Amino acid sequence: MSADAAAALIHHGDNVGMSGFTGAGHPKALPQALAHRIEKANQDGGHFRIGVWTGASTAPELDGALAKVGGIEMRLPYQSDPTCRDRINKGEMDYIDIHLSHVAQFVWFGFLGKLSVAVVEVAGILEDGRLIPSSSVGNNKTWLDQADKVILEVNSMQPLGLEGMHDIYYGTDLPPNRKPIPMTGPGDRIGTPYLHVDLDKVVAVVETSQPDRNTTFTPPDENSQRIAGHILDFLGHEVKKGRLPANLLPLQSGVGNIANAVLSGLNQGPFNNLTGYTEVLQDGMLEMLKSGKLSMASSTALSLSVEGMKEFLDNLDFYRQRIVLRPQEISNHPELVRRLGIISMNGMIEADIYGNVNSTHLMGTRIMNGIGGSGDFARNAYLSIFMTPSVAKDGRISCIVPMASHVDHTEHDVQVLVTEQGLADLRGLAPRQRATVVIERCAHPDYRPALRDYVARAESAARNGHGGMQTPHILDEALSWHSRFEREGRMLAQD
Ligand code: COA
Repeated sequence: MSADAAAALIHHGDNVGMSGFTGAGHPKALPQALAHRIEKANQDGGHFRIGVWTGASTAPELDGALAKVGGIEMRLPYQSDPTCRDRINKGEMDYIDIHLSHVAQFVWFGFLGKLSVAVVEVAGILEDGRLIPSSSVGNNKTWLDQADKVILEVNSMQPLGLEGMHDIYYGTDLPPNRKPIPMTGPGDRIGTPYLHVDLDKVVAVVETSQPDRNTTFTPPDENSQRIAGHILDFLGHEVKKGRLPANLLPLQSGVGNIANAVLSGLNQGPFNNLTGYTEVLQDGMLEMLKSGKLSMASSTALSLSVEGMKEFLDNLDFYRQRIVLRPQEISNHPELVRRLGIISMNGMIEADIYGNVNSTHLMGTRIMNGIGGSGDFARNAYLSIFMTPSVAKDGRISCIVPMASHVDHTEHDVQVLVTEQGLADLRGLAPRQRATVVIERCAHPDYRPALRDYVARAESAARNGHGGMQTPHILDEALSWHSRFEREGRMLAQD
């Protein structure tokens, strides 16, 4: 049926589980038709809003279109859409930021309420009703299973050659009946290439022919290259010390410029026969598969540039043998991340001198995107690495601060911090030792004196009975850099 007719099957108050993960595999037509319907209903004096649950971020034609018309009551989990972000930060839309590995099981447990409708993009439907998944898997298995009604979008632009690339694991039970997930290597296939759906629940099939959110590839900037250089040196050092095998351990890499720079550095670096166990596969990993540096990669989504997608499509048979796409509760599963010994590398907004990391909030109150899978990986990784340029906004913000204005990853989950200035290896260090290493290795030279001064005064205050020496702070001052930025547009007072 048409997208408009299918959109008429969704009602005010419904929670809708949409496919889509980092701009891949999201429904393209239905959300726009729904946005149109919502806009019209609300213009005519109605009140039409829905809950939108996804795998992760989608694209302007989903998050953007629905947020623009004020059609989203509540959104979860990760998003990166500017209109959504604006509405969330204005209080016009609720947002629940959940670890990506938690979403599916929270739905199975009944923690999030009823899922009314699933809207899932697929590459094709077999005669027996099995579904060929699209360019992302995300939470689709859960949406199809849990929703009362299912709407499928069959996107003819998704290549049928995707068939066979996915591995959908149907063995997850609920506690107390859970069994170990039978995976010991990143490339293990433990499920089936197809998604299953109860055909009686399918209320609409909509045909589309639209590309994913393939962006243009931007070459890594100088800071990203420097950060990548520090990480490569560190990994080489770890191999020499015997703490990592010569082909490292499975790599998890976040999205963006820095991540791509690290991967492109690895592509030219000395390590061979690498593997990837990640949630999103970007151009960097594709290039490493092509060069043979990476023998295989497991992910839940592809997030490729226009050029990367062309390369992928031109050589689909090659990549199908080397890429496994899984549900996100498996790609991000803490049990597997711990067992496989992942090297986790993610971006951050800021870190404090003691190693607490903020990945989500600007100046402590405004959401940027969300925690995504960073917590799934960081908490359980063999090595958890967080990276950022040392300053933002032309140097008016230091990304190394006395106290993080919001904490997503506590000091207990962060082993390595990296900026273009250098790398702080926090393993085995107590908080005050960490502060020295973070300031001297990672902070921008313009901010080091103020950070040193803060630590010295906090320690002196603690020695004089004002606070403890475990993690010395001057509580009245700890967030003053952020509040000065809000007042004066810069973190440090101008002399
Ligand atoms: N304080 C305030 N603003 C800051 C800041 C800080 N310490 N550091 C950066 N910013 C601003 C930048 O100036 C930029 O602003 P703009 O949009 O107005 O230009 C914005 O925040 C984004 O910064 P940028 O350096 O471009 O970010 P990025 O693209 O490298 O992404 C994260 C960094 C943290 C936002 C991103 O990695 C993320 O969303 N992480 C959480 C999810 C995750 O890790 N998933 C894991 C696997 S995919």
